[in-house]
Amino acid sequence: MSSTSAPSVTTQPRLTVVGTGYLGTTHAVCMAVLGYDVLGVDVDVDKVALLNSGVVPFFEPGLPEKLREALDSGRLRFTTDLDEAAAFGDVHFICVGTPQAAGSAAADMTYVDSAFSELARRITSRSLLVGKSTVPIGTAARLTELVQSISPAGTDLEVAWNPEFLREGFAVKDTLHPDRLVFGVDSEWAQAQLAAAFAPILAEGTPLVVGDLATSELVKVAANSFLATKISFINAMAEVCEATGADVNLLAQALSLDSRIGGRFLKPGLGFGGGCLPKDIRAFAHRADELGVGHATAFLREVDSINERRRSRAVDLLRELVGGDLRGARIACLGAAFKPDSDDVRDAPALHVAQLLHDEGAHVTVYDPEANDNARRKYPELTYADSTDQAVAGADAVALLTEWQEFRDADPAALGSLVAHRRLLDARHALDADAYRAVGWEVRALGRPASSRTVALVSDVRDQSS
Ligand code: UDX
Repeated sequence: MSSTSAPSVTTQPRLTVVGTGYLGTTHAVCMAVLGYDVLGVDVDVDKVALLNSGVVPFFEPGLPEKLREALDSGRLRFTTDLDEAAAFGDVHFICVGTPQAAGSAAADMTYVDSAFSELARRITSRSLLVGKSTVPIGTAARLTELVQSISPAGTDLEVAWNPEFLREGFAVKDTLHPDRLVFGVDSEWAQAQLAAAFAPILAEGTPLVVGDLATSELVKVAANSFLATKISFINAMAEVCEATGADVNLLAQALSLDSRIGGRFLKPGLGFGGGCLPKDIRAFAHRADELGVGHATAFLREVDSINERRRSRAVDLLRELVGGDLRGARIACLGAAFKPDSDDVRDAPALHVAQLLHDEGAHVTVYDPEANDNARRKYPELTYADSTDQAVAGADAVALLTEWQEFRDADPAALGSLVAHRRLLDARHALDADAYRAVGWEVRALGRPASSRTVALVSDVRDQSS
């Protein structure tokens, strides 16, 4: 770290947040709620207009209320104007997406590169650019050279990395009260400036890890790789259970009671999806190959395969349930989002299963409490219902694919009166198997024998929606 002429730190910095997707919107709103003046920036005129009028363009519990609070405080605005953003901010958070590149496992860096360079060109005085996006290791160092060479501020423009770990469905809570903060910095000034931008969160006693740029980039992909591996571990055990007659729910329960293992992210089922875990582990493995350490992350390809295999196994169980042939079978798919309390259908296991069933000739009806519209846009060939009752009416089998509370609360007898055949696949281990069997349902679950009884999996209050 350089300790040169100790430039001054702005104690109550004005913040910009570039990219108002899931991460950026939540960050902008929460920082304004914490007392900072914040300007959110996006290229999408419609999105900016919606946000300025108090509408969150996606489903996230608690965020609309916080947006209202932030707008009413007068500390938050949104704009499409980068000139305004460059003039406004002392600290600029870059929250644009790094999707999987077309035809490759690598991350598409177009949006990150463009946000950093377009802002840098316009910045004329000492400022901090803070990356929050998930990026290949080495990106922050590359961007430092790039922005300092093109910015009128020269080396007074510094780059820091501050990975974000928020979970969809818990975005507000995870942003305001994170498990930890990670600062990747190149100078003492950057560290102090970033600390000033997170003062209220640090004041709560939130653990802070300060390190170099590369480590902070690595923290993010390593954390997501660990979580994905933990899920795929228990799902790999489910495969072994299927070959031996063992019960993965009992196994998960027993493992989770070992305090060294713990029960979080050890829930067996249809596996992980969403906009982060799948693409992040692929991009990480790809980057490790480029760095010549591909052997160190080779296991992530297996983690990915285990995860994908759960989806075809779910289809196998449904085929068995309807007597060996899915052609013409009416299947009710409950859930489309990649997890409950979200309308996100990116890499959603539920919709992948629905599509596989459709490809085999089944008549698939999908119902999700929040994600029907997003699902319909992506899979227009599937049929969508407006309620659980409508989805299951006349079904030859019901598949629980995303564990919304609404599905957990459903009454097995009432559902049974609507279907053609009481056959259930609980792909998320979310329903009370005993209660369903008691009223005549045939129940199957991934990794469990056909006759297995209800096993309550260990759950953690931090993973429960409020
Ligand atoms: C994840 C990380 O948790 C977060 O820290 C990171 O910043 C972004 O990616 P998110 O995508 O919101 O967040 O989803 P998460 O709650 O982690 O769930 C990921 C997937 O794993 C979901 O599809 C979920 O259904 C599945 N899952 C989770 C399991 O199958 N079993 C489990 O035990 C836990």
